[in-house]
Amino acid sequence: MSPADTAAQPTTKTLDAYLAAQNRKELLRFITCGSVDDGKSTLIGRLLYEARALFEDQLSALESDSKRVGTQNGELDFALLVDGLSAEREQGITIDVAYRFFATERRKYIVADTPGHEQYTRNMVTGASTAELAIILIDARKGVLTQTRRHSYLVSLLGIRRVVLAINKMDLVDYSQKRCAAIEAEYRQFAAQIGLNEITCIPLSALRGNNVIKAGEAMPWYRGPSLLEYLDSVPLDGATTEAPFRMAVQWVSRPNQEFRGFAGLITGGSVRPGDEVVALPSGRRSTVKRIVTADGDLGQAQRGQSVTLTLTDEIDISRGDLLAAAAAPAGVADQFEATVVWMSDEPLLTGRPYLLKCGTATVSASLVRLHHRVDVNTLEQQPANELKLNEIGVGQLSLDQPLAFDRYESNRDTGGFILMDRLNNSTVGAGLLHKGLQRSENVQWQALDVNKDNRAAQKGQRACVLWFTGLSGAGKSTIANLVEKQLYALGRHTYLLDGDNVRHGLNCDLGFTNADRVENIRRVGEVARLMADAGLIVLVSFISPFRSEREMARSLMPPGEFIEIHIDTSLAEAEQRDPKGLYRKARAGQLRNFTGIDSPYEAPENPEIHIRTANVPAAEAADQIVAALRNAGMIDRDWVFLP
Ligand code: ADX
Repeated sequence: MSPADTAAQPTTKTLDAYLAAQNRKELLRFITCGSVDDGKSTLIGRLLYEARALFEDQLSALESDSKRVGTQNGELDFALLVDGLSAEREQGITIDVAYRFFATERRKYIVADTPGHEQYTRNMVTGASTAELAIILIDARKGVLTQTRRHSYLVSLLGIRRVVLAINKMDLVDYSQKRCAAIEAEYRQFAAQIGLNEITCIPLSALRGNNVIKAGEAMPWYRGPSLLEYLDSVPLDGATTEAPFRMAVQWVSRPNQEFRGFAGLITGGSVRPGDEVVALPSGRRSTVKRIVTADGDLGQAQRGQSVTLTLTDEIDISRGDLLAAAAAPAGVADQFEATVVWMSDEPLLTGRPYLLKCGTATVSASLVRLHHRVDVNTLEQQPANELKLNEIGVGQLSLDQPLAFDRYESNRDTGGFILMDRLNNSTVGAGLLHKGLQRSENVQWQALDVNKDNRAAQKGQRACVLWFTGLSGAGKSTIANLVEKQLYALGRHTYLLDGDNVRHGLNCDLGFTNADRVENIRRVGEVARLMADAGLIVLVSFISPFRSEREMARSLMPPGEFIEIHIDTSLAEAEQRDPKGLYRKARAGQLRNFTGIDSPYEAPENPEIHIRTANVPAAEAADQIVAALRNAGMIDRDWVFLP
């Protein structure tokens, strides 16, 4: 008997009983992946229509009661029937994925329906990150396509092991068993290479309704279940309460002096009062005292529940920390091997800093090296130093502080992350942590007795970085040179790092692609930091066209010691001056990636000093900068000499 048959029974249950029944039903989350025109919407439409017929019948019988429990514009809030969606919202992922809900007598379902247009990777990653099963749709006329392979690769990557290969539009190939078998054989061969082995192949016609809800007459040779029969009967992985306990701390609740609780969503295992837990990354241990919820204390809580824990000891825990079972703690690392799926039109560049969000923790991260990029068609590993939209790569991720994590394979929540743009917080990538990498244990920070302040004070100055940015030919080097001369005359200890000069030595291996410029600035930012650490006033004169990298250089210095100076010249003016004849070459097509012509310049939004060279001659600009430094107290000789 198919669920649709049992569906239409009118119900006399009360709403509470109904909701309780829904709550008891097993939940299956699945994702549908398809290419444009393969009939995905027809399939989902039919699935929902047939199954929802039941749902809406029951709902209308309950309409009058529904106000008691929370409604949306008078309609029952479907979210009441399902749980767990808040996790994505908490992650701040707002992506084009439509979640649809339906239920049969046996199960309730959440379908992540991901549109198949060019942003599909992003959609798929979001939809798949919580799914247990994927339906991969194939047009029987077209067979296995690049998209099919890409979707399958992502499905496998994201840890989904069960796949339904739904071969649709069988009516358009005369319900041919041979065609179906050929597609299945080709798919299984590819799938085996990416570790997908649990594949159920269902030939169907979404349009005619064959094998969607019930087996149709059209394909007597097919003896397997219909799609809905399969969904209703496939074994579920079940609640993974046996996994080790994990809870990312969302906030610390401190309503009064007596109470201090840690609120969050349990993303692994279960917890009881008396359990020993460890706060990570700090490693401090304590014991769970109470599990507090709005409906009273619990004797146990498990994965998927949002709770507040109190502990027997006063240990320091804050948002972003992970509470874990002390007996099976998560790992802690600041270097990882990770897979990254890139989702932005702007390519991922190695060395560029992004924000990484894992659970409730947000840290600064960059991919220091890409080991390879994966061609999803051939599964070939190709060398690369950037990832474009929809590309997938594996590399070494470096964080600016330690993060508590699990391997993605053992916990999708503590092992999965998203990458965000540092400037506008948009989601640009997603990824999976495979393992933590040790920064060799033999390399540690060495404590030194003489520090930057000592070294600077000995020179009677305060160390800082003066960062000159602007178009080629704007006058950065000319002005920086004059500033250094003045500082030198004042007895200050300085060093001028000039783009052209540094490119002759340290950076002689770098050209002018975006990736090379990122690395150029990363290196000079580090060098500037070291020189400032030596107590010097460091002048940096590089085009440094990207905001991200200037921000990174800034973040290496304490507040107030990084002074961004925008030498602002219009492109027309710089081009008219053209001191090195480079604009002329660029316009003639003899010089590629020239800043302002065919490579971007992102002007500073809030520089400490802004010089518009159209109105200010170089000598005057230098005077203004030195005056500004004096006003900011950077060059006065009132620094105490510390032996
Ligand atoms: S940056 O963009 O990576 O910061 P940097 O300041 O090191 O550039 O080097 C810029 C200098 O390299 C320019 O002043 C110019 O003399 C020279 N140059 C050669 N090719 C280019 C190019 N394609 N774009 C910009 N500058 C170039």
